[in-house]
Amino acid sequence: MLAGRRVVLGITGGVAAYKAAYLARRLVERGAVVRTVMTDAATEFIGPHTFAAITGTRPVVDLFDADDVSPHTTLGRWADAIVVAPATAATLARLANGLSDDSVSATVLATAAPVVIAPAMHTEMWMHPATVSNVERLESFGYHIVSPEAGALAGGDTGLGRLADPDRIADAVAGVLPGGPLTGVEVLITAGGTREPIDRVRFLGNHSSGKMGNAIAAAAARRGAHVTLVTAGPGIEHPRVTVVPVDTAAEMAEATWEMAEKADVAVMAAAVADFRPAKALDGKLRRSDGPPMIELEPTPDVLRGISEMTDRPFLVGFAAETGGIDEAVAKAQRKDVDLLVANDVTAPGSGFGTETNQVTIVLPDGSTDPWSLLPKSEVAERLWDRIAELRKSEGTST
Ligand code: CTP
Repeated sequence: MLAGRRVVLGITGGVAAYKAAYLARRLVERGAVVRTVMTDAATEFIGPHTFAAITGTRPVVDLFDADDVSPHTTLGRWADAIVVAPATAATLARLANGLSDDSVSATVLATAAPVVIAPAMHTEMWMHPATVSNVERLESFGYHIVSPEAGALAGGDTGLGRLADPDRIADAVAGVLPGGPLTGVEVLITAGGTREPIDRVRFLGNHSSGKMGNAIAAAAARRGAHVTLVTAGPGIEHPRVTVVPVDTAAEMAEATWEMAEKADVAVMAAAVADFRPAKALDGKLRRSDGPPMIELEPTPDVLRGISEMTDRPFLVGFAAETGGIDEAVAKAQRKDVDLLVANDVTAPGSGFGTETNQVTIVLPDGSTDPWSLLPKSEVAERLWDRIAELRKSEGTST
């Protein structure tokens, strides 16, 4: 995704500035054409020659002492994407307020390209309400923040605030760049296993990890789609993925149906509880009260709600079966989906929590296509290839 793309890397003055050299290297390795801009403070931590050697172009440091009369606007217009790494607390404050008093903030202010910001600072500074509100403001501009990690900080301290791994930042840069076959496509995905409360501490749940749904979301975003991931699992970080965390089937239904109207493709990969306790106890069930009788009631069928919409998205269902997938063929028709991904969760390497999956693609006409055992990421890529073929044959161009 980065091949031939023009990326401006802005480096500001923190000890993590040395890691920007690794980031520059990663971007170059992925085929990007990289130019760099450094604040004076950044040059206290790492020399401009390092970036010149890695990228082939000398960094802009001083706006008034460059060959170009307006280096910040030249860079801002040249860039397909700008990434600031590391971004100090002061840089976040400058950018949040449009204060262009150094080379990096001036360049960011002078661009219409997507912007990725990777902050690094001490925990106290990261948690300070001023920084929190600056970050919110930057997000409201559409900037993508690659949040810092926990680990060793300057001066022997440890905590949250360490610059994100260069590969994570490079992924984010690739993620904000427009392009890819699913550009402009709205994708809605459900993932994870819902949890239906029995009392305040217990729930009815299942073994779904959300990994398959996450892989499908990541693959769609990589292809340029905007993804809404409604998940009862852990979710993923990607500039084009909006994660909506939910717990119960009812919450999943509400969030999913709200988004479904504007979705072009909906992939229902969640393991949704079919029944929930009719009445969750407000407190805690006590052992001394003896084994409880728990009355169950049906949950909303999230997928069914979409299949019944008049102008519905292309609809992909999942069927986790035990002991073969014969039932899945009938399910594909019953559920009125455009494609069903069936798997036998009892088969070796398949099912909940594994990194691999052996699935069979079932179409509403009853045809089946068994795929070999593959990493879930590969299943996700192939699934998007298959969806693209089917949508194309329906006359949809993307
Ligand atoms: N699904 C859903 N909402 C539910 C139950 C299921 O959206 N309340 C979706 C799942 O995400 C999946 C598909 O429906 O995409 C099939 O789920 P599955 O549990 O296999 O189907 P059921 O109709 O519940 O059939 P079964 O009796 O086999 O559980």
